[in-house]
Amino acid sequence: MADTTDTKSSNQMWGGRFASGPDAIMEEINASIGFDKKLFAQDIRGSIAHATMLAHQGIISAEDKDKIVHGLNTILSEIESGNFEFSRRLEDIHMNIEARLATLIGPAAGRLHTARSRNDQVALDFRLWVKEELEKTEKMLTGLIAAFLDRADEHAESVMPGFTHLQTAQPVTFGHHCMAYVEMFGRDRSRVRHAIEHLDESPIGAAALAGTGYPIDRHMTAKALGFREPTRNSIDTVSDRDFAIEFLSIAAITGMHLSRLAEEIVIWSTPQFGFVRLSDAFSTGSSIMPQKKNPDAAELVRAKTGRINGSLVALLTIMKGLPLAYSKDMQEDKEQVFDAAESLELAIAAMTGMVRDMTVNTARMKAAAGSGFSTATDLADWLVREAGLPFRDAHHVTGRAVALAEGKGCDLAELPLADLQAIHASITDKVYDVLTVEASVASRKSFGGTAPSEVRRQIAFWRARN
Ligand code: ARG
Repeated sequence: MADTTDTKSSNQMWGGRFASGPDAIMEEINASIGFDKKLFAQDIRGSIAHATMLAHQGIISAEDKDKIVHGLNTILSEIESGNFEFSRRLEDIHMNIEARLATLIGPAAGRLHTARSRNDQVALDFRLWVKEELEKTEKMLTGLIAAFLDRADEHAESVMPGFTHLQTAQPVTFGHHCMAYVEMFGRDRSRVRHAIEHLDESPIGAAALAGTGYPIDRHMTAKALGFREPTRNSIDTVSDRDFAIEFLSIAAITGMHLSRLAEEIVIWSTPQFGFVRLSDAFSTGSSIMPQKKNPDAAELVRAKTGRINGSLVALLTIMKGLPLAYSKDMQEDKEQVFDAAESLELAIAAMTGMVRDMTVNTARMKAAAGSGFSTATDLADWLVREAGLPFRDAHHVTGRAVALAEGKGCDLAELPLADLQAIHASITDKVYDVLTVEASVASRKSFGGTAPSEVRRQIAFWRARN
């Protein structure tokens, strides 16, 4: 930050006790204005609510309150229009705004900080910011879920191979696979909602850590700022950063989900799989290999997860050794949250775009679903159901059929009846009805199963909740 103010003059906020200003290095390590200026709107909202309450309680005069509110609104428009000069010497957003207020309205500005401290002020500003970010995240997750619901609707019947160990397991539908992500992002969204509930308490009025002797009304400020109620313990209030850590843990879990999706898209879009084709809007070419279409956005989403996890671990580590109440260590909370929030927003937006835009190659998926003996379990189940075999015996018989088909280089459904009967005499030509991939998925009607009828039921469940 270009700030050439004289660093040796003593601070105007606490200059009473200090003979000289900070060393240049002290100023550099101490200042947070470079990043906490992001909190300007929350800081001003908080101060207006606080000043209004002070006047209502008769702690400051209505006249001073009006001057303060007017001055704060002027500062808000100055910052919004880029006409505000931030100063590193004034350390942080709180003191930058208060100093400007003093220039604008004179001595009345000095009354704003009655019955509060920067400790409850920063807790308030940051909570308000995180709350807004959580609300934004909730909306974005709703958009991503909607994109998946549309794709699931479109592909409730499209058969694809289901994998375990990334080996072909059993046929599923692409709709069912999409709905797995709806469940994951649905859980993320409910974590977001819980986090909003957790943080919905107003810190302002906890003051430095012990509360205040002024007759303040914390319920009034809580209400004015849109919180459910005030926090209950002033010590906890100024030393708590759980709301930021909860945001980061939700971001980390959501990021992990996004990264798994990104990984699948990377795999599916290879020529070897060819299950999906990314739109030009979400892929890049190669400067040397003209045939390439690279899933860069998916890869970057996968990578952003690393940053988000880093932020979570950083803040947990910053907080873990701090005695109650506030320590300056806590100033390091903001950059982690800001960075993770930016990464998360980008990642959700990119994945929503990719899911909406990608072309699904259903023919390719279906062909892959039929290979790799994906209906072997259906054959075993048929032997249990129709021939009365215990499942373990049916498994053995099926294993022999798979080995035979593998030796012949054909699929299970292509084995002649005579071959199947040679393995087990009770097999009839009815078995072919269950060996197709369509029959396989249609049969899995258990609640939450992959049958198109079940997938449609789950889509309806989520549509009603999205
Ligand atoms: N800039 C500080 C922070 O981000 C504000 C609170 C400072 N409080 C204090 N007692 N020094 O945490």
